Amino acid sequence: MLSKVLLPALAAIGTVSAQSGTCTVSTTTINNQADATALASCRTVQGTVLIAPGAGPSIDISGPSRITGDLRVLDNGVIESFKSNDLTIVGGAFTMQNVTRLSSLDMRSLTEVKTLNWRTLNALDTLSIGPPGLTKADEVTISDTFLSSLDGIDLASVRKMDINNNRRLTEFTTQLGNLSDNLNIQANGLQLQVSMPNLIWIANMTIANVTSFSVPSLAVVNGSARFDSNYFTTFSAPNLTATKSQDISFVGNANLKNISFPVLTQIGGALLIANNTALSELDGFPVLKTVGGAVKLRGNFTSVEFPALNDVKGAFDVSSTADISSSCDDFKKKASTKDGGNGQIQGTFSCTSNNANANSDTGTGTSGTTGGDKPKDAAAGVTINTALLGLAAVAGLAQAFL
Ligand SMILES: *[C@@H]1O[C@H](CO)[C@@H](O)[C@H](O)[C@H]1NC(C)=O
Ligand SMILES: *[C@@H]1O[C@H](CO)[C@@H](O)[C@H](O)[C@H]1NC(C)=O
Ligand SMILES: *[C@@H]1O[C@H](CO)[C@@H](O)[C@H](O)[C@H]1NC(C)=O
Ligand SMILES: *[C@@H]1O[C@H](CO)[C@@H](O)[C@H](O)[C@H]1NC(C)=O
Ligand SMILES: *[C@@H]1O[C@H](CO)[C@@H](O)[C@H](O)[C@H]1NC(C)=O
Ligand SMILES: *[C@@H]1O[C@H](CO)[C@@H](O)[C@H](O)[C@H]1NC(C)=O
Ligand SMILES: *[C@@H]1O[C@H](CO)[C@@H](O)[C@H](O)[C@H]1NC(C)=O
Ligand SMILES: *[C@@H]1O[C@H](CO)[C@@H](O)[C@H](O)[C@H]1NC(C)=O
Ligand SMILES: *[C@@H]1O[C@H](CO)[C@@H](O)[C@H](O)[C@H]1NC(C)=O
Repeated sequence: MLSKVLLPALAAIGTVSAQSGTCTVSTTTINNQADATALASCRTVQGTVLIAPGAGPSIDISGPSRITGDLRVLDNGVIESFKSNDLTIVGGAFTMQNVTRLSSLDMRSLTEVKTLNWRTLNALDTLSIGPPGLTKADEVTISDTFLSSLDGIDLASVRKMDINNNRRLTEFTTQLGNLSDNLNIQANGLQLQVSMPNLIWIANMTIANVTSFSVPSLAVVNGSARFDSNYFTTFSAPNLTATKSQDISFVGNANLKNISFPVLTQIGGALLIANNTALSELDGFPVLKTVGGAVKLRGNFTSVEFPALNDVKGAFDVSSTADISSSCDDFKKKASTKDGGNGQIQGTFSCTSNNANANSDTGTGTSGTTGGDKPKDAAAGVTINTALLGLAAVAGLAQAFL
């Protein structure tokens, strides 16, 4: 029942159906707790709820269990505590951006949003969501927060997820089973350990600056997988059998000593392994047969082995600071007939030892391909890496993160 006192307030924000508990507003702005309390008798808010820049320091929007539109808190430097005991579903985007004093977020009942978009929440150090927590979302961005844990965000499936610049984040474990567009994890806490025990397939991922990355069940990468500037010493994808299209790359992972893909038979795009200076033996691809693009390997290798490789559509370019001449002799047999081999490698062949500059080339073209090595680019990293094999779709991925 709506109280008499509340009716005028509700009339001000929109039409109210006392019967269904649905309050229709196109957009309602909450300037203070009284405005929030005026919504408390609505079961559903049909429309968008804005928390005004000056609202705070405590706002409690308990009452409605559903907001059909967006819930937005933008450019608010006042609010410290934001709460709802009842909000379960946000039909649109739950956006909080540039909310610099918010330290307490209690959305204990929240389970579903279309989009979660949280950026620049410098004081937010803990979440009180769930149990069960946020289990359904299409797209999640959590950037530049003070969070040390993402407990409370536990999706089974998501289209897109971007976790970046959360400098205190040291652990991210998720039950995620699949991800159909992009996963981006970068520039979080220096000790970030990522664990995705149930991940079976993922479209694309870019993982940078993490200390461990565990994907024991991962079976298929539909798009690309990039690992840049991570701190892990070993990387293993024990169940990965194929990448369907696009590239796998490992660039500038300074501590990486062991890459292991024991059951990987096919890479849809290219394989790039460069400037992982601690990696001396590259022998973690025992059953890899087919590479749909080029193979480019640059590093401090003492041996390079791809015993099952018999079909490389693009160029094959290997170069080491050390002597890998015996590996080169083996690969040479697979070179194109033009280069004196059996033709299993269809593109240009190059394999060189004792190249002092082997690590300085982390992208661009492959040796001997049309146009040859492009000059070194100061803007190394993402851009240069994507230019590597000229795959437009990968460029799209990088752009999405720039
Ligand atoms: C962030 O919000 C504050 C108000 O709290 C505002 O003064 C500032 O301009 C905003 N910053 C940006 C980048 O929009
Ligand atoms: C994605 O994962 C969820 C949760 O594990 C599962 O219910 C769903 O069937 C999966 N979808 C596909 C297409 O594999
Ligand atoms: C990725 O591959 C898996 C396994 O082949 C498949 O079930 C899934 O639908 C694919 N996802 C996309 C987005 O193509
Ligand atoms: C994080 O990774 C990026 C590459 O994506 C790299 O440019 C940057 O230097 C790394 N940061 C640190 C602190 O290692
Ligand atoms: C690895 O793949 C096999 C075969 O598909 C499956 O039976 C096994 O459960 C998977 N292992 C993990 C840890 O997911
Ligand atoms: C992600 O991977 C899919 C293949 O599953 C590809 O079609 C798509 O273009 C990729 N997305 C981006 C943004 O690169
Ligand atoms: C590399 O890692 C794999 C899988 O974790 C392991 O089986 C293998 O023994 C390691 N190789 C070396 C040389 O440590
Ligand atoms: C990699 O090789 C370069 C050039 O020979 C050398 O300066 C560097 O110390 C090596 N790094 C490691 C970790 O072996
Ligand atoms: C190679 O990696 C080291 C860090 O391990 C970095 O300092 C250097 O700039 C990288 N070189 C290139 C060409 O990316």
